[in-house]
Parts: sequence; C-alpha cells; structure tokens
Amino acid sequence: MRKVVITLVICTIAIIAVACNGNEGVGNSLPKTGVAIFMFDNTFMSGVRSAITSAAEGKIAVDIVDSKNSQTKENDKVDQFISKQMKAMAINPVDRTAAGIIIDKAQRANIPVVFINREPLATDLAKWDKVFFVGAKAEESGTMEGEILVEYWKANASMDKNGDGVLQYVMLKGEPGHQDTELRTKFSVIAIEEAGIKVESLGVEIAMWDRVNAQEKMAEFLIAHGDKIEAVIANNDDMALGAIEALKVAGYFKNGKFMPVVGVDATEPAMQALKDGTLLGTVLNDAVNQGKATVELMSVLAAGGMPTKENTGYDITDGKYVWIPYQKVTQW
Ligand code: GAL
Ligand code: CA
Repeated sequence: MRKVVITLVICTIAIIAVACNGNEGVGNSLPKTGVAIFMFDNTFMSGVRSAITSAAEGKIAVDIVDSKNSQTKENDKVDQFISKQMKAMAINPVDRTAAGIIIDKAQRANIPVVFINREPLATDLAKWDKVFFVGAKAEESGTMEGEILVEYWKANASMDKNGDGVLQYVMLKGEPGHQDTELRTKFSVIAIEEAGIKVESLGVEIAMWDRVNAQEKMAEFLIAHGDKIEAVIANNDDMALGAIEALKVAGYFKNGKFMPVVGVDATEPAMQALKDGTLLGTVLNDAVNQGKATVELMSVLAAGGMPTKENTGYDITDGKYVWIPYQKVTQW
C-alpha cells in the first residue's frame, strides 16, 4: 500500500513537472532563430510574417524584427542575431544586392541563412552552401497578369475602346531593382504580345508597391490620357487598389464604365475588390507556403542538418532555391 502511494506521489510530481515544463519552457527549449522583414508596413510581407509565426509554433522560437525599409538598420539586426547566437536566420533584404555582406557575416558566425521574397544575386547565393532562397518566380506572375488581360480582351471586344486593334495600357511599377518589379513589368507585356495582341504603353510610373502612391500616379495618368487607357497593369495588388481608387474618383466602376485592372498577391483587400467587381484579376503570391517553407528550412538548419525534399516537404532546386508556385485568380 505504502509503495503504491509513494509511486503515485512520484508519478504526480513527474506529471506536474512535465506539464509545467511544457507550458513555460517551450520558448526556451526550442532552437532560437531570427527573422528580419524589410518593412512590417507592407501588406504582402505582413502575410508572410504571420505565416512564419504560425508555422514556427512548437518547432522553432522566432524573433521577428522590422528593418523599417533601411538596409543599415537591417545589418544591425543581423549583427544582433549573431551576438544572440541564433541557430538560423531568415532575411528579407531591403536591398537584395546587400545579401553578399550578410552572407559573409553569417558564414563567419556559422549561422545558416534563408533569404526570403527578395532574391539575392546568384553569385552571392553561391558564396556558401548554408544559404538558401524561398520565393516565387517573378516572371511567372508577370506572365499570368498578361494572360488574364489576354483572356479578357478576347472575350470583350469593348475593351478595345478606340477600336484600333491595339491594347493601350499604363503600368504601375514597384520598387526599382526588385526582381518582381522588373520581371513582372517585362513578362506581363510579353504575354500579351505573344498572344498576338499589339500593345502601346501610354505611361509607366514607379509607385513603390504603395497604394496611396499608386492612386496619385493613376490620377496623373487619367489627367494625361483619360479614356485612351484600356488597361492598368500593376506590379502588385496594393498599387492596383490605389489605381482603382483613382478610377472611382474619375467615374469608373459605375454606370457601365469599366477598366480592366490587374495586380499580384491576392491579398485580402484585393480578393474583396475582385468580389466587388473592380479588380479584374490577380495572381496568388502564396504567403502561407512561403512562410511555411522558410520555417521548415530554418528548423532543419537550426538542428545542424541540410534541407532536402524529405526533411522539409519542399523541392530544393540547385541546392539553393525553394520556388512556391503562383496561381491566377480572376473574376470569372
Ligand atoms: C512582392 C510582393 C509585393 C511586395 C514585395 C516586397 O513579392 O508582390 O507586394 O510585398 O514583394 O518585397
Ligand atoms: Ca485600343
């Protein structure tokens, strides 16, 4: 009887100890990792950030910091991650050409790095074997934007407002030098031309991924070209939504007045605009899988391993890249 009681008491203590440890110790017992986002105040990256937070639960402890759109600040964050002896880092570079310096620092400290969203130059990625990139193929999203417009053009003769057989468009660009800016701009137009449709650019403006900025640029396009504009191509949804605001002010989206506007990301507000019938189409930039893949790679790396398809669930192309596919999202 005594033995049973003692055993029971010991068991109870053991269970409580495990339970307590389970509650309090989670953060401490998981490998520490650091994530630097180029700017918290960016719609799409906010999605990636929350995907990282939820995927990390129970796997790795993540310290996510805001580089506030300053590469200098981000470099300081990297130094802090190194002095805190993080087991792995994920970096969303402010300036993708700064990756080289970050890689050198990381290698010296032997802390593996996963770059996200802004693709470092291949020559930088080649510097060390514990460097990776998780993102999406920029040209693919551009091509899909173009294809959405092609489909609409073919189904709606009225899209050619002046009936000249040429698609007159305006382009709203993201940050210069960003792979998504340059390649979406180029490949959206190529996709239209490859479908045998002649194009004419009425204007190209940089709006820095930003909604308000894009609204201003679109208002200027409307003053300069008015109804000559037959489509708006934006490098992302925030800018597409800004353009839609300017178009609304100019009387579009009511009394049968329509403008085909396309973007990329499929953010929540963009999905709403699609439902409202203002945004014609967008391309899903899969934040959930980008966040998840980042966490999978970091947790393998933090444990001292090398990421493979088997241990992460994602294909590692050329030992460096995880490509998350894009997907078209349209009103139809
Ligand atoms: C792109 C995204 C943009 C912006 C940018 C930031 O992939 O489409 O909306 O978030 O990344 O680097
Ligand atoms: Ca035309």
